[in-house]
Amino acid sequence: MSETAELKLGDQKIDLPIIVGSEQEKAVDVSSLRAKTGFITLDNGYMNTGACTSAITFIDGERGILRYRGIPIEVLAEKSTFLETAYLLIEGKLPTQDQLENFTNRVRRHTMIHEDIKRFYDGFPRDAHPMAILASVVSSLSTFYQHEEVRPDSEQLSLDMVRLLAKLPTIAAGAYKKSIGQPFVYPQNHMSYCENFLHMMFSTPAERYDVDPVMTETLNLLLILHADHEQNCSTSTVRMVSSSKANLFAAITAGICALWGPRHGGANEEVIDMLLEMRASGDSVKKYIDRAKDKNSKFKLMGFGHRVYKNFDPRAKILKAACDKLLARMKISDPLLDIAKELEEAALKDSYFIERKLYPNVDFYSGIIYKAMNIPTRAFTVMFALGRLPGWIAHAKEYGEEVGNKINRPRQVYTGPTLAEYIPINNRV
Ligand code: SDX
Repeated sequence: MSETAELKLGDQKIDLPIIVGSEQEKAVDVSSLRAKTGFITLDNGYMNTGACTSAITFIDGERGILRYRGIPIEVLAEKSTFLETAYLLIEGKLPTQDQLENFTNRVRRHTMIHEDIKRFYDGFPRDAHPMAILASVVSSLSTFYQHEEVRPDSEQLSLDMVRLLAKLPTIAAGAYKKSIGQPFVYPQNHMSYCENFLHMMFSTPAERYDVDPVMTETLNLLLILHADHEQNCSTSTVRMVSSSKANLFAAITAGICALWGPRHGGANEEVIDMLLEMRASGDSVKKYIDRAKDKNSKFKLMGFGHRVYKNFDPRAKILKAACDKLLARMKISDPLLDIAKELEEAALKDSYFIERKLYPNVDFYSGIIYKAMNIPTRAFTVMFALGRLPGWIAHAKEYGEEVGNKINRPRQVYTGPTLAEYIPINNRV
């Protein structure tokens, strides 16, 4: 007999089933609550609410654990490639040599975008934010690949997934070239995924460009670390849109838009802006820590805190080491890194941050690495989207394959006016 939770509401008592996950996480299943009691639950920001069960990614925020399909992020960061990790997230297991070769070749064959899509870029203002361009162009893919509702296990959906993985780097690099007035660079399919992206970003028709293997290796790590993170805001958005049976391009577009916010993926851009402001102001780190603690100030220490991690974000730990290694290998000493380390050290000793368990998150160091790679600050969140794409796809696929899946339609507690009259306009004040 599975465990239940007893709920007393006035003189009514009901038993609610308890769900236990494979990592012993427990949940009270309230799906019968309203039918049995007329009550619903309310949980601002979904701090305590599970939207689904999922077999893709496990996070233990208290112990700083992150695993994709059970494999620790530290192992994948050291041993895997981004496309192999993408396959793992989407298909649920590590690919054989043949499966990886086939998957890689499929992605390679779809890296070009329709020539008509390139004309969209002519219409964007030169200073358009690249996340706006990314969302617009990804959404437009559904006009080039039009099909009726796509079955979850269909070849059509598999092809759309490959198209997105293959074309997003091309679309992203195009946004960068647009912003600097340089011509688009076509993908070169003999290159690896990361090499190809850097080539499209930084090569020009005017001269030979050799991709630095250190950059390729660093980008591979960054994309793996960002590849999935269970029910974060943007992934939950992708699942939400998938639940209406909108097409995959629409769901991924929604994920891109959700990621853009400074509380989420937009934080990596904000971290660099914060560090640049700190350097320019010459103010002490303590002054910024005090501002972050001041309830009258809206200032937050960008790159710090996390809804789930109440211990170190394991990705931040890996990125901090990668940061040191990359800057040393490139013989760069970036004062922003020194400020970041001083800020981290001071915050981790401060009772405000300790009591609230605020630690550096994935965004705290990633911006410094992107900056060292000459990625423009406004494209940092685009880089996050490139990494998160396989996670979004995996969750859309998992949702689609869920037997008896329902449209996501939360309830609310209404607090507006009760029955009101329609006042004729001449009598209104
Ligand atoms: C990502 O969900 C994911 O998994 C996201 C992500 C992923 O991979 O998808 O990990 C990627 O989005 C990482 C987070 C990047 N965002 C930032 O770095 C922005 C700065 N961080 C904060 O905005 C905040 O920490 C959040 C949004 C990340 C988490 O917010 P919560 O969980 O809603 O926590 P909260 O805002 O309720 O904060 C709790 C307390 C509050 O103080 P009190 O009201 O208790 O006095 O901590 C304070 C907050 O004011 N606080 C901060 C702070 N973050 C929280 N104070 C100063 N600086 C901060 N950064």
